[in-house]
Amino acid sequence: MLRLPSFAKINLGLEVLGVRQDGYHELRTIFQTIDLRDDILIRSGGRDLTVSCDHPAVPAGRQNLAWRAADELRRFAKRTDGVEIRITKRIPVAGGLGGGSSNAAAVLLGLDRLWRLGLGPEDLHRIARRIGADVPYFLVGGTALGLGRGDEVYPLWRQIRIHVVVADPGRALSTAAVFARLDRSLTPRENSNKIFRFISRDLEGKGTAFPILANDLEEAALEEAPDLAGQVRHIRGILVREGAVAASLSGSGSSLFGLFDDPQRARRAHAALAAEGLSAFRGRTLSLDQYRGAWRRSLGLEGRRPR
Ligand code: C5P
Repeated sequence: MLRLPSFAKINLGLEVLGVRQDGYHELRTIFQTIDLRDDILIRSGGRDLTVSCDHPAVPAGRQNLAWRAADELRRFAKRTDGVEIRITKRIPVAGGLGGGSSNAAAVLLGLDRLWRLGLGPEDLHRIARRIGADVPYFLVGGTALGLGRGDEVYPLWRQIRIHVVVADPGRALSTAAVFARLDRSLTPRENSNKIFRFISRDLEGKGTAFPILANDLEEAALEEAPDLAGQVRHIRGILVREGAVAASLSGSGSSLFGLFDDPQRARRAHAALAAEGLSAFRGRTLSLDQYRGAWRRSLGLEGRRPR
């Protein structure tokens, strides 16, 4: 049996470059893991593949990405063992924070260890991208550039360490629906190079560079869920008023995050959101090393040479 952490991500910026031949969208994004986490318990035995979760909106069967991860890995490894997966949910569901994809990556890493498969990054990546476009990123974590469908992942030299406040408007948004809405949008989008500028130059200036980043999915998300517009404006207003160096929708929404250089300001922003009855989280970004360290500890790999 293994007990594993499964961290959330935010998108520090997200550019949609166009539609691809495979129907997916060509993206440029900066992924960033944060210390908001689900807990995953994996037990191997019997013949059945089961997923249970303490959150009622999380599906139990093959629609659950964690179920699909176990299924794919079983096939790949030509195993017939059953797997029991239990998820304790803290990451908002369908909130743009990658919870389902992160759970799937946790199952891949956990079963690789439980079954002593010794799969390398290439095999794990190949399996991960079949499950979902965000799953490969969660095999890596930290501050990383995402290209292609988001499944080409390049860890960045500079890892961003900053305080984060996430607000969850409690409204699930379908990623597929938001992308489809973007395609129907009448507003032409201009491709920009903000993300590359951010990485190559502006990153040196710490917090000052964040405001150039934007999320191209925000307009489409608000068209898909017009009832959210007021709340998004309200939440962003609170984050900015309390001193966020950037405030943005994460992924396809509906969660918003604020970045804070100063922990006191982050604390005040969190308190202000909670005072309004909003569900909010306050924490920090997790660097590549911190993410890897958390994994190695829970997989019992500490002290061994990294593969
Ligand atoms: O890969 P995943 O199943 O997480 O993606 C969910 C949906 O989001 C896809 O079915 C697709 O409609 C949309 N998507 C996209 N372009 C991407 C990633 C996701 O159009 N790069």
